[in-house]
Amino acid sequence: MSDATAKKEERRKFQAIRGTRDLLPPETELWNRVEQTAHEVFATFGYGEIRLPTFEQTELFSRAVGGETDIVSKEMYSFFDNPDISELEETRDVVRELGPTVNTQAEQESFLFYLSQFISKVEQRLAAGELILSSTALSDLSALKNTFQELQVLPDSADAHTNDKRKLLTVEILVALDLLKFGERVSLRPEATASVCRAYIEHNMQQLPQPVKLYAMGPMFRRERPQKGRYRQFYQIDAEVLETVRPDAAKDAAKELAKDAVIDAEVIEMLMTFFDKVGLQGATLFINSIGHNADNCRRGYVAKLKSALEKVKDKLGADSQRRIDTNPLRVLDSKLESEQAIIATLPHIADHLCDDCKAHYAAVKRQLELRGVLYQENWRLVRGLDYYMRTTFEITAPGLGSQNAVCGGGRYDGLVELLGGPPTKGIGFAIGEDRLILALQESGKGQAQQGRDVYIAWMGERAYAAAIRAAKDLRNAGFSVELPPVEQKFGKALGQADKLGARYALILGDNEVSEALWTLKILSTGEQQKSVSS
Ligand code: HAM
Repeated sequence: MSDATAKKEERRKFQAIRGTRDLLPPETELWNRVEQTAHEVFATFGYGEIRLPTFEQTELFSRAVGGETDIVSKEMYSFFDNPDISELEETRDVVRELGPTVNTQAEQESFLFYLSQFISKVEQRLAAGELILSSTALSDLSALKNTFQELQVLPDSADAHTNDKRKLLTVEILVALDLLKFGERVSLRPEATASVCRAYIEHNMQQLPQPVKLYAMGPMFRRERPQKGRYRQFYQIDAEVLETVRPDAAKDAAKELAKDAVIDAEVIEMLMTFFDKVGLQGATLFINSIGHNADNCRRGYVAKLKSALEKVKDKLGADSQRRIDTNPLRVLDSKLESEQAIIATLPHIADHLCDDCKAHYAAVKRQLELRGVLYQENWRLVRGLDYYMRTTFEITAPGLGSQNAVCGGGRYDGLVELLGGPPTKGIGFAIGEDRLILALQESGKGQAQQGRDVYIAWMGERAYAAAIRAAKDLRNAGFSVELPPVEQKFGKALGQADKLGARYALILGDNEVSEALWTLKILSTGEQQKSVSS
């Protein structure tokens, strides 16, 4: 590298990575206000906050969100999390070296000794939580243990058959040793629902009074093409209601369906109350039911949709053509102008729902009406994550361009079970906070209050001591105060106060100190008042 290039490198300016950004004051005040409103509104509906890890096992997301979805197949930030396994590797290497040379009884004993050392070290680390193995690695470990036991119980005799068996088992052990991978693939979370379900199972929340109502907020990560309202690190405010199914629930299916519909409507009511409280205008709620995964319901519909799509395949774009095979429902999501007229002719899911899903959907609509929640039905609302069933919904807001969904959600009965928990129902939503903030700013509701309440303009040593006391008192009373660190001429100080958007200037000079007075200037009017300092 030439000197000039090296210098240039040195001076290189770092920038936030594409699709990520800094949120700066005063805008962060608006973020805080939005989040504070969520805390308050959700608490009035009985929700508790859950704080989740930012990364989880990749397998959690691929299982929950679906391996074929865009999110999992191309948008996750994943990496291999390598634990410190040098000690294990050393023992493994010894076993590897001994394996192929086992001939005598003593060599056999030494091989078995180091192998048992290796297995027990792995188990100790696992028990201490220092090592996490993927499910594949766990089954590889158990295969290794089985072969080890088989080898241990093999008689000492040197007959040809036993010898062959011993050789075979040793080779199997060496292969199993190579297969065993420590560490695991982890991903930055692309969404929160999977983690909430994982936490529900991990903390035995089915033992709590049901349903369990939780909310979470924070950054999510998806490697999407950045544009207005679409980022690679974005923020969600997420809420979920989980309810483990009672063993006798099936006895009164109609009652259960009606109860689920009430929960769905209340979740949506809470969401709309929140949007109302933060001052979001022109939000539109779209709802749909995508039924459940059975031949007489969604599966039957998807088959019909697929054959309808096959007939118009030539007129569809490449993405939709591909989706006919991978996920025909997603064709309904298409925003391609040229496909809209064709999609309008496709069969509607509402005409193919089973009786239970139909009853549930009708009840959700009734419950929304009862709560005065306005909605529009959108039969094309299928959502891009695999776990949904029955109710799906989305809220759009004006002023956002093509990325106009500020919230998406739906019901996901069965997801907890899919992740290894008990049969559990679930419904929830996630608000895209970045988009909500943008929409508030576009509608003029996002003005964050800038500036300080009071700027203290002081001159002289004695005045400075009084200024420190005044700043302390005012801050204790909840005012935001700017106390300049160096003395300034009053003219300059007032100019500075103006620039900072201060409402008042507290003037403290020699006169004020000797008379024990405060001079307070209202900066917008220039009015000035003297008062006795406390
Ligand atoms: P989602 O529709 O993938 O659903 O995301 C919810 C919301 O997050 C979207 O409506 C949008 O406002 C925002 N969002 C998504 N991706 C981005 C991005 N790249 N940039 C900015 N904002 C984005 C879920 O995530 C589900 N977990 C929702 C849910 C909760 N369903 C049930 N419970």
